[in-house]
Amino acid sequence: MAKDKYSKIPGGLFISFEGIDYCGKSTQVKLLASRLGSEGYGILVVREPGGTQISEKIRDILLDNANLKLAAEAELLLYEASRAQLTRELIIPGKDAGKIVLSDRYFDSSTAYQGYGRGLDIESIHKMNMIASAGIKPDTTFLFDLPAETAQTRYASVPLFKDRLEEEKIDFHRRVRSGFLAIAAAEPFRFKILDADDDIEYISGKIYTEISQFLR
Ligand SMILES: Nc1ncnc2c1ncn2[C@@H]1O[C@H](COP(=O)(O)OP(=O)(O)O)[C@@H](O)[C@H]1O
Ligand SMILES: [Mg+2]
Repeated sequence: MAKDKYSKIPGGLFISFEGIDYCGKSTQVKLLASRLGSEGYGILVVREPGGTQISEKIRDILLDNANLKLAAEAELLLYEASRAQLTRELIIPGKDAGKIVLSDRYFDSSTAYQGYGRGLDIESIHKMNMIASAGIKPDTTFLFDLPAETAQTRYASVPLFKDRLEEEKIDFHRRVRSGFLAIAAAEPFRFKILDADDDIEYISGKIYTEISQFLR
């Protein structure tokens, strides 16, 4: 199919994937993108922090192991800056073009990590999230819920370079996990909570079923 010949969805569709590191977000984004892509939909996959040339530069600062002195407030603003750019440069144009935009993390991660994890003021983060996202919200957000201990087991089995955030202590990841659950509880219509310890195929089936309602 030619690049501009895809099944357009009026107004597009914006779906975010959230949860602690190693919960399976990237795995599921990939599976959903290939399934929907093969059905002829226009798919745009983005990740946070990053996704654009400018945002990827911000990502490098955020994930650099050398930046141990990065203040929590500076970290928050860098994430929001990356998001502001990504939203305007890719997400809004993608939606306007009738595409399905899949975002590997979005603003709920700032609330969970910088708010619940680091203890910054949640209301202030909400306001910054609204500025960064230009007022748009994901149509659906999948939260992959996983105990921090299980994530750590997965982490230990992947012999990859570990970034600054992944090296945080387990207590931090516990706070982030319960933060995500609190955020989801406050917006039950937007959030779909999945047990991230289920089989990969089972989870991807559930995600596909949820998304199907938007495609008819
Ligand atoms: N449902 C699952 N059950 C067990 N392992 C999984 C599952 N989903 C993903 N994994 C594995 O866990 C690791 C982290 O997955 P990934 O998708 O990269 O997570 P994230 O993007 O949330 O950090 C990978 O090795 C992946 O193969
Ligand atoms: Mg990932």
